[in-house]
Amino acid sequence: MKTDGFVEKATRDAIAGNSSGSFDLSGELPLKRQPFMYSLTKQVVVDKKRFKEQHLVAAYSEDPESDAYKILRTQVQQRAKSQGWNTIMVTSPRPRSGKTVSAVNLALSMAQEFHQTVMLVDCDLAKQGIHTLLGYESNRGIADHLLENIPLSDLIVCPGISKLTVISGGKTIGGSTELLGSAKMGQLVAEMKNRYQNRYIIFDVPSLLEGADAIAFLPYVDAVLMVVESGKTSMTDCTTAVQLVPQEKLLGCVLNRHAAISR
Ligand SMILES: Nc1ncnc2c1ncn2[C@@H]1O[C@H](COP(=O)(O)OP(=O)(O)O)[C@@H](O)[C@H]1O
Ligand SMILES: [Mg+2]
Repeated sequence: MKTDGFVEKATRDAIAGNSSGSFDLSGELPLKRQPFMYSLTKQVVVDKKRFKEQHLVAAYSEDPESDAYKILRTQVQQRAKSQGWNTIMVTSPRPRSGKTVSAVNLALSMAQEFHQTVMLVDCDLAKQGIHTLLGYESNRGIADHLLENIPLSDLIVCPGISKLTVISGGKTIGGSTELLGSAKMGQLVAEMKNRYQNRYIIFDVPSLLEGADAIAFLPYVDAVLMVVESGKTSMTDCTTAVQLVPQEKLLGCVLNRHAAISR
């Protein structure tokens, strides 16, 4: 491997956790005597003007609505730090409760903090929607790494938001339960956890009570954040979903779309 200035700079950036440098996490390299491969993270242009209409309020630090996500971020971080957690999956009992909106807002809120880097990974393989919400085109994601060994360095993008990197994708993948529950997925999450110790890695995962994807993926993450929709999610679904999560992994519940914030 050439060690020219570009590689050295990328190496320094990667070690410093800067978003312009990234590890190649293809799986083979770390254990061999080969040097790591680095590359510049691909930049994508997001449509920040659409953030408000997409309910990405955490992007606006001064907006009173972003306070809810600052509270969530603080609660998540306090618990995560005390437990040594940095891999967090966001799920819900049923679809359309706001998992993706909550996961992206949490990541945006975390990335606003000094020194806090975040990676957002779309693991809802039947409905990968993070890139749509952020407003950029994407047709490759984590499944391409799992199925075709595409290096993660080719999949990680920087959406022009300081300290945030994203792996999303556009294709609908069959056999998602087997992929999310595969040993390769487990190794990948473990490798991300260890490589990016100071970075939160947030996984947007399908619902717990529809299909088995979330249950299959659950053992690989440190913690689970459960999104429930105010006035919609039934108590029965909420209880059933919570019971599927080992108690020690349950970070807490997010009450999404709750309108009772009085000012
Ligand atoms: N807090 C919120 N306020 C308003 N609309 C929301 C909120 N959270 C989610 N939505 C809307 O609800 C729908 C489902 O949200 P989404 O995050 O895609 O759900 P999920 O990922 O759980 O399927 C989307 O149209 C989204 O814009
Ligand atoms: Mg979603």
